[in-house]
Amino acid sequence: MPNPLANKRIILGITGGIAVYKAATICSRLVQAGAQVDVVMTASAQQFITPTTFQALTHRRVYTDMFDIPSGENIPHITLADEADLLIIAPATANTLAKLAHGLADNLLTAIALATPALMLIAPAMETDMWQHPATQANFGILKRWTNKINFIGPATGRLASGAQGLGRMVEAEEVVNQAQHLLAQQGDLAGLRVVITAGGTREAIDPVRFVSNHSSGKMGYALATTARDRGARVTLISTVALPEPFGLDIVRVNSAAEMLNAVLSHSNQADTLIMAAAVADFRPKTVAEQKIKKVAETEGLTLEMVRNPDILAEVAAQKERGFGPRITVGFAAETENLMANAQSKLARKKLNFIAANNVSATDAGFAVDTNRVTLLFANGTIEELPLMSKVAVADIIWDKVKQL
Ligand code: CTP
Repeated sequence: MPNPLANKRIILGITGGIAVYKAATICSRLVQAGAQVDVVMTASAQQFITPTTFQALTHRRVYTDMFDIPSGENIPHITLADEADLLIIAPATANTLAKLAHGLADNLLTAIALATPALMLIAPAMETDMWQHPATQANFGILKRWTNKINFIGPATGRLASGAQGLGRMVEAEEVVNQAQHLLAQQGDLAGLRVVITAGGTREAIDPVRFVSNHSSGKMGYALATTARDRGARVTLISTVALPEPFGLDIVRVNSAAEMLNAVLSHSNQADTLIMAAAVADFRPKTVAEQKIKKVAETEGLTLEMVRNPDILAEVAAQKERGFGPRITVGFAAETENLMANAQSKLARKKLNFIAANNVSATDAGFAVDTNRVTLLFANGTIEELPLMSKVAVADIIWDKVKQL
């Protein structure tokens, strides 16, 4: 599955504010992600930065003037507007917001904004007093209520052009690019699907500073979550690991199997699909010491008494029998021996639609690496062996299977 920005036609509208320097980064990131970017600059924007910067970044002509139409070309505000998938305006000044809210089209950018059926992403940037002015707030309100095609990002709080600190600063370039990616992903093939994914090994507390866990890194779960997001699904990721938080996901942090069970039951009820990529501890210490366990000079060892944890997938299966829960459930079987027989028995026992079996003792598959080699076993008896591939590629195939189901 390509990145949602690849081959998309994006108009980057740039208006006059000091935050224009961030527009160069936005432009570069979009181009690197494979988008075709047409830059449209207002006259004020060109007081801060020249079109040459954007021409060099995009290798395309930069549009600055409504009436500068090279012979043989079409009128830019019509063709650009028609063909665009997304119009980003970053930075957007108070003046441009006012024009947009009132349908003024006195420059190429505002004319395009009026003419385009594309999604819009607007990143306001101005001094706090200008942002909080009733006129700007009214314009912002008009634009937000108009149509769900218009999306705002920011403004943020921070250092402003005047040197003061306050609300009005444009959000960072990365956030604009992430949001653009997110908006375009919503047109993907999993749009409308609600999914819950678990990731990482559970941590079963021994005392306030120690726990029992396993080597699961959470990478497979995160790959499933980000690929589903990029194909348009609404994703809840229930995670035990502190990997950098991907944008555009609802992330629920848990530690123990018991916490994961509660989170799964409460979130998967409204979901279509549950994928349990987490390595759930089968046992937990019977009691959690209230204070840190101290070693006493004469003690040679420590015996921990462990008790069984609930089986989360089995609990979900029981819920499904009562008529609740996700329509599709998928598990992973992490094995070091008898891979197929063990996976087959888990598929049946946990009443899954399919299970991804992997040998976690291999060095290029399973825990902590970026690649995986899995075999998919389906409830109808079909077996599909996948070659070694990246966890992201495995995730995409798993979503293809979920979609078929
Ligand atoms: N799983 C679960 N609840 C548990 C243990 C596992 O929901 N208490 C899920 C895992 O997330 C995975 C699947 O069940 O999707 C299989 O997990 P695995 O650890 O391979 O199997 P176990 O059920 O623990 O069985 P065994 O002890 O025989 O390996």
